[in-house]
Amino acid sequence: MAYRVLSRRYRPKVFEDLLGQPHVTRTLSNAIAEDRIGHAYLFTGPRGVGKTTAARLLAKALNCSKGPTVTPCNNCSSCLEIDESRSMDVYEIDGASNTGVDNIREIKNNVQYPPSRDRYKIYIIDEVHMLSQGAFNALLKTLEEPPEHVIFIFATTEPQKVPLTIQSRCQRFDFRKLRNSMILQSIAAIADKEGITIDDESKLHLWQGRLTQEVTIQKGLSKSSFHLFAIFICSACRWTSL
Ligand SMILES: Nc1ncnc2c1ncn2[C@@H]1O[C@H](COP(=O)(O)OP(=O)(O)O)[C@@H](O)[C@H]1O
Ligand SMILES: [Mg+2]
Ligand SMILES: [Zn+2]
Repeated sequence: MAYRVLSRRYRPKVFEDLLGQPHVTRTLSNAIAEDRIGHAYLFTGPRGVGKTTAARLLAKALNCSKGPTVTPCNNCSSCLEIDESRSMDVYEIDGASNTGVDNIREIKNNVQYPPSRDRYKIYIIDEVHMLSQGAFNALLKTLEEPPEHVIFIFATTEPQKVPLTIQSRCQRFDFRKLRNSMILQSIAAIADKEGITIDDESKLHLWQGRLTQEVTIQKGLSKSSFHLFAIFICSACRWTSL
């Protein structure tokens, strides 16, 4: 089975599955339940703590055909397409490779049109701190008067590089570093389901994406733990290019 398919299987499917970020999941769940959805969110925190996952969960919660709902069905076309990063109404943009003012202008032109099928047009911009000054300026105009149907979710590992003018127009959520015990537990659950035996140290390496083929050989890990590693690399991968 393709690693990508496996990695999707173990992604958090509902807010409850997102570990160690109760302040985020609680506030977002309440906002959805009470129909108080903001137009711009800023998710900050280190790599691999659930920023992209939370962004996709929010997108599904809002655009699920049975929604808006705190518990997206994960079964309708909208949910499935968001899982596979191919929704017509949810754009996943890598801020690191779309840094220019032209990239943002394209978004600006696009936001005026209604969503093609779902409730909202959602722009998830990862590593948003990489945008150029010109791009931020262009974005600011849209953030000042966002169309009703548009939601921006920015994610960044370096919030201090995001201009204050942008930050002040976003609802900010600081994702926390996950405790090791939590990571070990979550990997143990996956390893168990996949029928893989793996030691704790390797589990932490896995999570941090540091278990290279070399390390695997050095540590004499079995082929099956490398297989698990591949699952994680893919699940941590933001884009579906793998
Ligand atoms: N808080 C979390 N709870 C459960 N799983 C998580 C969490 N954070 C990350 N993961 C796992 O790691 C993968 C990568 O997380 P991701 O959301 O892309 O991190 P980030 O965007 O913060 O770098 C997810 O697909 C998920 O399997
Ligand atoms: Mg991410
Ligand atoms: Zn759905």
